[in-house]
Amino acid sequence: DKGGWSSFMAKEVSEEPEAVANTIRGRVHDGIVEIPELDGLDELFTDIDRIIVIACGTAAYAGMVGKYALEQWARVPVDVELAHEFRYRDPVIGARTLVVSISQSGETMDTLMAVKFAREAGAKTLSICNTQGATIPRESDAIVYTHAGPEVAVASTKAFVAQITALYLLALHVGRVRGALDAETIAAQVAQLEAVPEKIARVLATEQEHIEQFAHWMADTRSVIFLGRHVGYPIALEGALKLKEISYIHAEGFAAGELKHGPIALIEPGQPVFVMVPSPSSSPLLHAKVVSNIQEIRARGARIIAVAEEGDAAVLPFADEVLRIPLAEPLFEPLLAVVPLHIFAMGLATAKGLDVDQPRNLAKSVTVE
Ligand code: M6R
Repeated sequence: DKGGWSSFMAKEVSEEPEAVANTIRGRVHDGIVEIPELDGLDELFTDIDRIIVIACGTAAYAGMVGKYALEQWARVPVDVELAHEFRYRDPVIGARTLVVSISQSGETMDTLMAVKFAREAGAKTLSICNTQGATIPRESDAIVYTHAGPEVAVASTKAFVAQITALYLLALHVGRVRGALDAETIAAQVAQLEAVPEKIARVLATEQEHIEQFAHWMADTRSVIFLGRHVGYPIALEGALKLKEISYIHAEGFAAGELKHGPIALIEPGQPVFVMVPSPSSSPLLHAKVVSNIQEIRARGARIIAVAEEGDAAVLPFADEVLRIPLAEPLFEPLLAVVPLHIFAMGLATAKGLDVDQPRNLAKSVTVE
């Protein structure tokens, strides 16, 4: 039931605030993260020396965002791998490896086979999944469910923000169990995380109409580039995937720092480029670097669409369009910056008259390898 929305995707984007809030619920007590499903499983986190995250598509981008939090808070080295690449290259894993799989459906065959492979190789396995009782969690030593609610549209949206939320809770949990974090730091991060649903709701309330109009106006665009740095990089990849997936427009996401190593050659007058701009107050260094990237491509005629924090005036002279997100610490920006990109992809597909819920050639869950 679309509940009055024009598509499941529109409904599911509108549910992004609850997806985050429901994933946090019951897992925070007095400012400390305690995930009941992980009770008694401390050795999964103490007896390891590395984590490998495996997933596909949007779930893999959530994993890339999660890597920053797991490394920063839990101080464990993390690699993120596409599930279908993982088991075909004799990876170095064993009893001191925790393999964290991420899957909305819990049925993605590539991910399932990678989890089975990891188990057989003696690794510990934890599944982040949105579907109760699905196959991947059943094959894993531990489960952390995302509580995004059923996701029907092929394009994953609310599950993505819920996956990042679950990864952040996991990172704070592991950080505590491993003694890498003090209570004060955990409480501060929890407060930031708990503020996210309201901030996403604000993006939806203040930017949705503006972005939809803008997308309408961009309906003839043939190619879009997305740039990001640090946690903004996986968000750039997610923005590009969503656009390809539902509006059939060629889109590419790049790490902003990689521009001058090749992709800048693509920039010609009029090329639309979305740029995830880090917060000037909480990441001044990254902000300055990204603003200088903007200047470089702007000088070559790119049309800049900046996703930038409210009040960031430094982007104004160079941006043709500014999509605003509320202030947040760097790790929490992805949860906000992705929302305009989801709205944009949906708006553009709608403007082209496409079926946003059932894009061509795609299935909601990919159960073949
Ligand atoms: O069910 P899963 O999370 O395992 O699915 C993984 C990908 O197939 C999925 O995220 C896909 O990339 C989406 N259609 C992206 O919107």
